[in-house]
Amino acid sequence: MVAVSPDSGIGCVNAVGEGLEVEVDPDQFHRVLVNLCRNAIQALEGNEADQPSVVRRITIAARQEVDGETLVIVEDTGPGLPERARENLFKAFTGSVRSGGTGLGLAIAAEIVEAHGGRITLADGTTPGARFEIRLPSRSSLGAAAATVPIT
Ligand SMILES: Nc1ncnc2c1ncn2[C@@H]1O[C@H](COP(=O)(O)OP(=O)(O)OP(=O)(O)O)[C@@H](O)[C@H]1O
Ligand SMILES: [Mg+2]
Repeated sequence: MVAVSPDSGIGCVNAVGEGLEVEVDPDQFHRVLVNLCRNAIQALEGNEADQPSVVRRITIAARQEVDGETLVIVEDTGPGLPERARENLFKAFTGSVRSGGTGLGLAIAAEIVEAHGGRITLADGTTPGARFEIRLPSRSSLGAAAATVPIT
């Protein structure tokens, strides 16, 4: 989905449960994952000079929870979210603390997830790095209210 140069040393782990299906708009949900993965890559690449020996890895996991919700996790082994970024996370134009960043990536991701009746959070992981969690409602709870909103 996103360009990771082979010599970047960044590994990608697909930990999505076998046969898992989610009911989402494919293009929009693709955008969510691209935005999260792009951030992860930027964080991992930015960290390379400071900590060249550290493992650089992105893990994407997804599974169905007991309550029927689907949990999607995008996690990386980068430096984690800077304190300043946490303050306005998911808010358009105000969240970026990166030079050249517009601060739209997470805001768009949140809007799409919410249009699907779900929610996205930054999880406080026990491991270093950043961990974003998306919870999508179970199919049976999807009604007209979950109709997706086009993002331009
Ligand atoms: N995986 C991550 N690791 C570390 N910091 C992150 C991560 N994801 C987001 N951030 C921080 O959150 C800020 C907001 O992210 P967001 O994607 O909304 O905007 P951006 O990446 O700066 O700009 P854009 O996505 O519009 O190009 C980033 O500037 C970065 O500081
Ligand atoms: Mg971004």
